[in-house]
Amino acid sequence: MTTSPAPVLSVQGLTTELRTERGRFNAVDGVSFDLWPGEVLGIVGESGCGKSMTALSILGLVPQPPGRVVAGRVLFEGRDLLQLPERELQRIRGAKIAMIFQEPMTSLNPVFTVGEQILETLRQHERLGRRAARDRAIELLAKVGIPSPAERLESYPHELSGGMRQRVMIAIALACNPKVLLADEPTTALDVTIQAQILDLLERLQAELGMAVVLITHDLGIVAEFAHRVLVMYAGRVIEEGPVEAIFEAPAHPYTRGLLESLPDPESDRERLQVIPGSVPQLGELGPGCRFAPRCALAGPACRQADPPLARAGARAVACFRAELATPPVERVA
Ligand SMILES: Nc1ncnc2c1ncn2[C@@H]1O[C@H](COP(=O)(O)OP(=O)(O)OP(=O)(O)O)[C@@H](O)[C@H]1O
Ligand SMILES: [Mg+2]
Repeated sequence: MTTSPAPVLSVQGLTTELRTERGRFNAVDGVSFDLWPGEVLGIVGESGCGKSMTALSILGLVPQPPGRVVAGRVLFEGRDLLQLPERELQRIRGAKIAMIFQEPMTSLNPVFTVGEQILETLRQHERLGRRAARDRAIELLAKVGIPSPAERLESYPHELSGGMRQRVMIAIALACNPKVLLADEPTTALDVTIQAQILDLLERLQAELGMAVVLITHDLGIVAEFAHRVLVMYAGRVIEEGPVEAIFEAPAHPYTRGLLESLPDPESDRERLQVIPGSVPQLGELGPGCRFAPRCALAGPACRQADPPLARAGARAVACFRAELATPPVERVA
């Protein structure tokens, strides 16, 4: 008999409030998901929908003020990370749960060499002698495809290209063999060819090390290529969830459909011009109905009266009164 595996990370009802001059609102509003061992879970949505805030909330890194996690649980190895004292959280963060961010946010420290920065992470989390730590640092740089790794230990960040710097960030993230990697727009700051190289690297390392990855991106093309499952967020909420193939084949939420229609068409050289009209609402100004209703071509009176709950059907979930959940695919006869 096989027992079904437990999720490595289980996020339940995560809610993060922001207090700004514009008022008080939940930048993350009741977000729930399970992350399974070895999976790549994409989180996608337009700018401002709460993707980064979700990652920061999981790790206890929400800037306070203006933010505060006000509800929810983040279960990891039998404990709720939201209840842990900062000291305990520090032991997990960067070690068992590692993160890489879009470069401008957490670029490397310019005054320390690459080697010093990797060794610092190893020193914080692992008991290694000097020699062993240096060997491990070289091994890590080699693993992320940095040529002449021993020499690169002496380099300062400004001596490296953007792509190489991001490889160093990945080496640091992997230093302690994390179970979970949170990657927030890990390639947005890079040009397209380098982007593809870094994503291929992440994919290879993910398979090799068997870690689970949360890949945050505004780019559905990246999700299509690298994620197994996807959460679509809109205005702080998860509005659709499911296996990537199923969602691309038959998106159930009008917002997801809109995102897919705005993707460039691989069959033609031109970008598709279909773009979702309007923009993400200011979260201070939400009415009682569906948050997407003001932009939705299908919205009816019910959609303006109540916020649709996330309804599950098998591996998929959608929060829409108008969605017709895709029926199970008909078996193809050869
Ligand atoms: N430090 C902050 N102060 C005030 N508001 C903030 C702060 N950080 C984020 N917000 C707001 O919280 C909401 C969610 O932001 P978040 O950064 O999580 O979005 P995102 O989905 O990661 O967007 P992007 O794709 O642009 O990275 C937005 O309305 C944003 O304006
Ligand atoms: Mg972000």
